[in-house]
Amino acid sequence: MLTETTMKAHRLADLPTVESDSLLALIAMAAADPRPGKIDVGVGVFRDADGNTPILKVIKEAEQRLHDTQKSKSYLGSAGDRRYAELLRPILLGEHAADDRIAGLQTPGGCGALRLGFELIATANPHARVLVGTPTWPNHPPIIEAVRLERVDYPYYERGQAAIRFEDMLEALGNAEPGDVALLHGCCHNPTGADLGEDQWREVIRVVADRGLIPLIDIAYQGFGRGLDEDAFGVRLALASCEEVIVAQSCDKNFSVYRDRVGSFWVKTGSAEATRKAMAHVFQRAREMWSMPPDHGAACVHIILEDEELRARWLVELKAMRDRINSVRARIAAADPRLSFIGRQFGMFSMLPLSKEQVLKLRADHGIYMADSGRFNVVGMSDEALGRFTAAVVDALDA
Ligand SMILES: Cc1ncc(COP(=O)(O)O)c(C=O)c1O
Repeated sequence: MLTETTMKAHRLADLPTVESDSLLALIAMAAADPRPGKIDVGVGVFRDADGNTPILKVIKEAEQRLHDTQKSKSYLGSAGDRRYAELLRPILLGEHAADDRIAGLQTPGGCGALRLGFELIATANPHARVLVGTPTWPNHPPIIEAVRLERVDYPYYERGQAAIRFEDMLEALGNAEPGDVALLHGCCHNPTGADLGEDQWREVIRVVADRGLIPLIDIAYQGFGRGLDEDAFGVRLALASCEEVIVAQSCDKNFSVYRDRVGSFWVKTGSAEATRKAMAHVFQRAREMWSMPPDHGAACVHIILEDEELRARWLVELKAMRDRINSVRARIAAADPRLSFIGRQFGMFSMLPLSKEQVLKLRADHGIYMADSGRFNVVGMSDEALGRFTAAVVDALDA
């Protein structure tokens, strides 16, 4: 017999209300603010000195070449553009590029790769728990919940001290069970801006390997910190030390092709044979979820990486983005000693030591949109807005 609840569940009109993703809600709120001087430092896109997110010149060139030479838009299959993944392989994996226990495929952005990673874990071990350092990105918990894995949060960051709670992190990982998953942020990826240093990576990966955990590393900002190789330190260390590793990678930021959805998924197991088996499941999950990834952005990245001259020009444009991030950080840090920690961090994000009330007041009084937690994008504004931003933040800290 149908109960009232199951009958209700059959009607679309009776679906429960969904709380929207806090980051997407913030973007919508900023867009709806009519004040001309509003500052949207919530969304994670690079902006130049004029406050624009320009298309890279090498992407424009690659798009032109694609337009001139592409002869077919026939299907490519669940793996997408296989050459794109091959070209990315040495950039991400470095000295592990030739390891046949590591395989990858193109995905719709880094978020698609993340979902694929958790799907694979859930297929292999539905009882695995996922250890998540908080705060994290608002889409991590729902992706983990969507594949019905249990999430175990541990405190990663001490806001007042602008410091990683490293002992807490080691303790949480040390108490995990073999087969559990350590969700780790690659370079410049932590929403707090507090990345693990190289010595900390060594300790974390040692515990992860000793406990038999699977590191799942989310890396979307390679090249925004110190350089492509330096920024891949954690990924490569995990590959060197752990039998099983998953990496969710994105080109959306470092090629500035956000909406084109360009990412890749990588898995390492203990043998080439086991990796082939795992990849068969990965293809199956990809087929179920999106069938095939979108081609355009990955085709442009493929063209750039295949061509020596375009590749060199991409590295120059990537360095220009990195240099701007680091110079804006230095300028914010110089504005007040309480902001000096920002100059010691890398990447686009930092977390200000502000209460939610202070954040909401900045939003109401100055049209400054950052996450309620105080997380903001250091290159989310023009040079003109930067002075107004730091003055308003220092005022808020004084209040
Ligand atoms: C948690 C997380 N990981 C990775 C990414 C990578 O970006 P994309 O999915 O746009 O390639 C994002 C994007 O915002 C993200 O929120």
